[in-house]
Amino acid sequence: MSSTDTDLLQQLRKGIVTSSADETERIARAFAALVPEDQVLAFHGDLGAGKTTFIRGLARAWDIVEPVTSPTFNLYTLYNGSRQLVHLDAYRLGTGSDLDALMIDDFLSPPWCLAVEWPERIADSLPDDAWHLYLDITPDRAHRIRLDEER
Ligand SMILES: Nc1ncnc2c1ncn2[C@@H]1O[C@H](COP(=O)(O)OP(=O)(O)OP(=O)(O)O)[C@@H](O)[C@H]1O
Ligand SMILES: [Mg+2]
Repeated sequence: MSSTDTDLLQQLRKGIVTSSADETERIARAFAALVPEDQVLAFHGDLGAGKTTFIRGLARAWDIVEPVTSPTFNLYTLYNGSRQLVHLDAYRLGTGSDLDALMIDDFLSPPWCLAVEWPERIADSLPDDAWHLYLDITPDRAHRIRLDEER
């Protein structure tokens, strides 16, 4: 890992503020190169905080060209690029739902990344080594992203 890479992770751990969706996507693209193989990423944050925007940046970095929007009719969408990205929006799941019941595992071949919006809904079935990203909007309407690998 280069020093620029460790810098990005360190900055993200402290929290990075972005002033546009493009900037969030750009950071996500750089971050994508640092995501370990077969990693679960949990995206916490309110409606409109930028979770899907960030995941779109990951997709672009992994050569996925399809539009990335929040899955509306299905709970998750599978994208094939240089990595296999599963975008799960758990919003409509009840709290205490079981990730295993969704049988996502059956579709995963390495290297994959499962990106979960509203991970609180399936908190008990997320792996312990998931990386958690916290997104929020500051009082002056900037968007902030913070990484916590430990939960
Ligand atoms: N700095 C920024 N970073 C991310 N999004 C931004 C930023 N500034 C403005 N936006 C806008 O905020 C919105 C973020 O929406 P997005 O769908 O990514 O949120 P979300 O967290 O996935 O919400 P939901 O829980 O409803 O799925 C988009 O319309 C985006 O263009
Ligand atoms: Mg979303």
